[in-house]
Amino acid sequence: MDENPQFGSEHMKPIKKAVFPAGGLGTRFLPATKAMPKEMLPVVDKPLIEYAMDEARAAGIEEFVFVTGRGKVAIQNHFDAHVELEAELAARGKEDMLAKINASKPDPGQIAFVRQMQPLGLGHAVWCARTFVKDEPFAVLLADDLVNGDVPCLHEMVEVYNTHGGNVVALMEVPEQDTSKYGIVDPGADDGRLVEIKGLVEKPNREDAPSNLAIVGRYILQPEIIDVLSKGTLGAGGEIQLTDAMLELVGSQPFHGMRISGRRFDCGTKLGFLEANVAYALQRDDELGAVRSSVAQLLEEF
Ligand code: UTP
Repeated sequence: MDENPQFGSEHMKPIKKAVFPAGGLGTRFLPATKAMPKEMLPVVDKPLIEYAMDEARAAGIEEFVFVTGRGKVAIQNHFDAHVELEAELAARGKEDMLAKINASKPDPGQIAFVRQMQPLGLGHAVWCARTFVKDEPFAVLLADDLVNGDVPCLHEMVEVYNTHGGNVVALMEVPEQDTSKYGIVDPGADDGRLVEIKGLVEKPNREDAPSNLAIVGRYILQPEIIDVLSKGTLGAGGEIQLTDAMLELVGSQPFHGMRISGRRFDCGTKLGFLEANVAYALQRDDELGAVRSSVAQLLEEF
């Protein structure tokens, strides 16, 4: 594999910016998402978007842009100061709670919101962040893909980027019958963890899928992706697909996939979301320590 990116050192800028697309309708979670953003659904006691923010920060991200739409104002409020609540918690001596609500608060000026007026697809959401991205490589994190592991997923990807440059996507193997639900890569050289990418296809028919390696919602992308997205080409489902735009960069820039080492939960689905809640609760050693026996009892009762 190419250990020494040849495509120009100005592209080896560090990854300091992250885009969080959150403009989707979240229809699979209706009615819960009628008035509340999907990204604010809590896994145990923390909203999905905060997990994504924490992961980005752990990977060295310093500037955060959220692409939101109608009905998503709760995301903005979540990362804002809440003066009355903070004063009340301080007055009651609830320092632990105060620490929790401030844990993910960005520094002033570190965070920006752009509006995707219509949910025209993930590619369109990323394009909406173009004035923020400018000419720098950037990360994209989909909050509804939660990756649980010893090392945060984006941190591992940044390490891959620091060696290989170019574009990096997170990958996981999926059952062949599920390939039509994902962006699927056409793999080249594969060392078991890193995969050179020769092609990509969004939601292929099972018989057309080039592999069973599916893209998880974590990306490191070169700014040229914005030029490709500017064309506004429609793809699968009549949406502007990020996968189609990435395909246009394959061949002209290094493009690698990294098998994730952690466990991915698809919190955009009810089953994945419930699994995540159980799994994250099982990992806690606070008052949730009883969850294991509770689950066992529920399994007997129902
Ligand atoms: P999904 O495919 O899960 O779509 O988007 P969705 O609208 O959120 O949910 P369903 O399918 O209706 O249940 C994957 C990610 O891309 C973002 C979503 O917010 C989610 O983080 N997205 C999708 C946008 O930001 N804008 C879009 O136009 C579409």
